[in-house]
Amino acid sequence: MIAGAPAAGKGTQCAKIVEKYGLVHISVGDILRDEVKNGTPAGKIAKNFMDSGNLVPDEVVVEMVRERLNQDDVRAKGWLLDGYPRSASQAEAIEKESIRPDLFLLINVPDELLVERVSGRRLDPQTGKIYHLKYNPPPADAVSRLQQRSDDTEDKCRVRLDTYHKNVDAVIGFYKDVKVEIDGTQSMEDVFDACAAAIDDALVKTDPLEAFCKDAP
Ligand code: AP5
Repeated sequence: MIAGAPAAGKGTQCAKIVEKYGLVHISVGDILRDEVKNGTPAGKIAKNFMDSGNLVPDEVVVEMVRERLNQDDVRAKGWLLDGYPRSASQAEAIEKESIRPDLFLLINVPDELLVERVSGRRLDPQTGKIYHLKYNPPPADAVSRLQQRSDDTEDKCRVRLDTYHKNVDAVIGFYKDVKVEIDGTQSMEDVFDACAAAIDDALVKTDPLEAFCKDAP
């Protein structure tokens, strides 16, 4: 699982993590944005909550995540859950199904930096890549097609931050035993190195074969 405030860098790190470890990235924000784009019943409910920076109700989100976690690709490759759970009730819902992470990565970035990251973020709809006008500039040939998320304004970011701060301690409470905090103010590469070190440690703890290989001469 990967957690952190809005624009802490979760999506950026997830792209790197799935490339290295072959997990299936389940981004609840991305799934919801697809539902909104496709005008599904779930998307119609989600739209107003997302546009205002608030959490989409559990009735929409919980079943969606439970279903995705039970699909074949996820069962075969393992999962990287991004943006879930965001509240105690969401954590309880998957605890009931005995769904627990081997590792809970928490990316920490101070609020002042997050507002700047939100306003400079641009997405490439063709490749799915995330850029930042200052910290991760897009290539020239992609610039004309880049998009900005409708919730990426300073006002909405403040609401999202507020929601995050109200809920994060309750969520952490479920995963204290597997939590690793990462300093998200470092460069993207250094944040990734810290994430990868934590994942490698978790693999050794949960997979005896990994432990054997690591200790082998
Ligand atoms: P979601 O899409 O999950 O948004 P979020 O949690 O607010 O996180 P973001 O996607 O904004 O940021 P990120 O941490 O992925 O940062 P990124 O890597 O892009 O959710 C959106 C909405 O959906 C919610 O508000 C809610 O309404 C709804 N929702 C989602 N899950 C829900 C749930 N479980 N229940 C109910 N509702 C739910 O990076 C940000 C920028 O910073 C980029 O430009 C990037 O290039 C740059 N950057 C990244 N890392 C660095 C670095 N180390 N240094 C400098 N710049 C960096």
